[in-house]
Amino acid sequence: MALVPSLASTLDRRIADALSAALPEAGSADPLLRRSDRADFQANGMLALAKKLKGNPRELAGKVVENLPADELIADVEVSGPGFLNVTLTDGAILRTLAARYADDRLGVPFKEHPGTTVIDWAQPNVAKEMHVGHLRNSVIGNSVVRILEFVGEKVVSRHHIGDWGTQFGMLIQYLIEHPHELDHKGEVSGEEAMSNLNRLYKASRALFDSDDAFKARARRRVVDLQAGDEETLALWQRFVDESKIYFYSVFDKLDVEIRDEDIVGESGYNDMLAETCRLLEESGVAVRSEGALCVFFDDVKGPEGKPVPLIVQKSDGGFGYAATDLSAVRDRVFNLKADTLLYVVDSRQSLHFKMVFETARRAGWLADDTKAVMLGFGTVLGKDGKPFKTREGETVRLVDLLDEAIDRATAVVRDKAEKVGLSEREIVENGRHVGIGAVKYADLSTSVSRDYKFDLDQMVSLNGDTSVYLQYAYARIRSILRRAGEVAPAAHPELPLAPAERALGLHLDQFGEVVTEVAASYEPHKLAGYLYQLASLLTTFYDQCQVLSDENAREVVENRLFLVDLTARTLRQGMALLGIHTPERL
Ligand code: ARG
Repeated sequence: MALVPSLASTLDRRIADALSAALPEAGSADPLLRRSDRADFQANGMLALAKKLKGNPRELAGKVVENLPADELIADVEVSGPGFLNVTLTDGAILRTLAARYADDRLGVPFKEHPGTTVIDWAQPNVAKEMHVGHLRNSVIGNSVVRILEFVGEKVVSRHHIGDWGTQFGMLIQYLIEHPHELDHKGEVSGEEAMSNLNRLYKASRALFDSDDAFKARARRRVVDLQAGDEETLALWQRFVDESKIYFYSVFDKLDVEIRDEDIVGESGYNDMLAETCRLLEESGVAVRSEGALCVFFDDVKGPEGKPVPLIVQKSDGGFGYAATDLSAVRDRVFNLKADTLLYVVDSRQSLHFKMVFETARRAGWLADDTKAVMLGFGTVLGKDGKPFKTREGETVRLVDLLDEAIDRATAVVRDKAEKVGLSEREIVENGRHVGIGAVKYADLSTSVSRDYKFDLDQMVSLNGDTSVYLQYAYARIRSILRRAGEVAPAAHPELPLAPAERALGLHLDQFGEVVTEVAASYEPHKLAGYLYQLASLLTTFYDQCQVLSDENAREVVENRLFLVDLTARTLRQGMALLGIHTPERL
């Protein structure tokens, strides 16, 4: 459907045109338009421009005003201060633009001008290991970025680079060979059971490995068999992967994050490329042998005593590690998946690794100048004490426990109000899930990706403040008003004057498209969260100052206000969906 230009962009163009008419030698100068408290918008561009051309900014601003066309967009424009322009728009222009957004399924949000292909690496847990809070971040951030990019028309391919390879599998597989029924299932297994099976096997095999030298030797030989692609060994390895997937899917399901099986391409998926990756690097001279290992060196990467720290692509014993896999993945993503952008949602503690991988790939010519490689490094989840989040016993917190607790807490909050709203038990349970998971996701996404944040459930499920449940209530409240409106339907009435709270809400609604465009370009979901929170706050002010369903209102006023709140609801719903958060109809 149609793209709706925002009022800001229309006004920007008008002023820019008036500016070049007033001062042809300025070329196409930027009027530097901002939202303002004094009027609706302020343009500051005349200041710098007049200075540059040795003119008088107030005079220039006055000429710009003369050159602005008289039409229905601008209600008032004045020159103020040293040479700003304060612009107030007409209520009619605001309502007409909002009506155009309202008529569009996409709320007037534009598609990207030049969509490309982004391969995004996110939600990458490790086989036979419990998922922890770090995996919360790469799942939640990745999921939102995928949704935002797809919404603006980018082709997105997900890659879940799970840790499914490595020497620990020798030990596990050998143990399973010697205890063949340990992973047999009688019926369907839950995620919890699958994980506890894997934990049990891990502990038992580890204990044997540490205490029994003969077993240790057999386990080591098993690693060699696995790497050589021995069929029996691979089949057993597959059983660990499958068992882990049962667990992963149960957690992703709880987290309300959709993962497709064909997008799970773990470390093992690049096995066949590793030797060639190393050969290409060595032949091109990008990597060199150093003490038997194949290494890539960097001028700016040095260790403690100024000794260069290399990226090791092949160890001296011939084994390939994490780097060789990631370099092979770059080749696959660029040459087979045709990516022009590579995105990695990973813990910022892996920054150095990715910096070296990207630089190596550039030197090797696998990343062309116009291919973007971006690491979205996320910060650490902290406990209330400001230290990395741990259980009381000092262990890493299991992701499932954390999610269950969030759901419990949220369900209590929902239940508290349930009677008043008339929710059934089924709705309480469902809303409890959406509120609890929404709270966890929102807390994560409303902080900028790179920053650490404190995991504080009390704050996350609070009804007041910058929380998802505050936004969810704002949405549900509008839905309730619309139900109560009965046969009166929302309709825009551009002939009506707007109250200040209506104008403020309307002007903010109009920015949705620009915010989404910006967030899609900068991969910053927290800016979308901030926008939505402000939207809900403006709605609260609007309720304080304007009655919607009041007998004292003329019918047109009721229809117009219903239109404003309905557009607000749709914007909230769409925005929350882009963050991966549900907005229940009744709460
Ligand atoms: N499995 C890793 C972890 O749990 C993350 C993998 C990140 N992706 C990559 N291409 N290296 O920390």
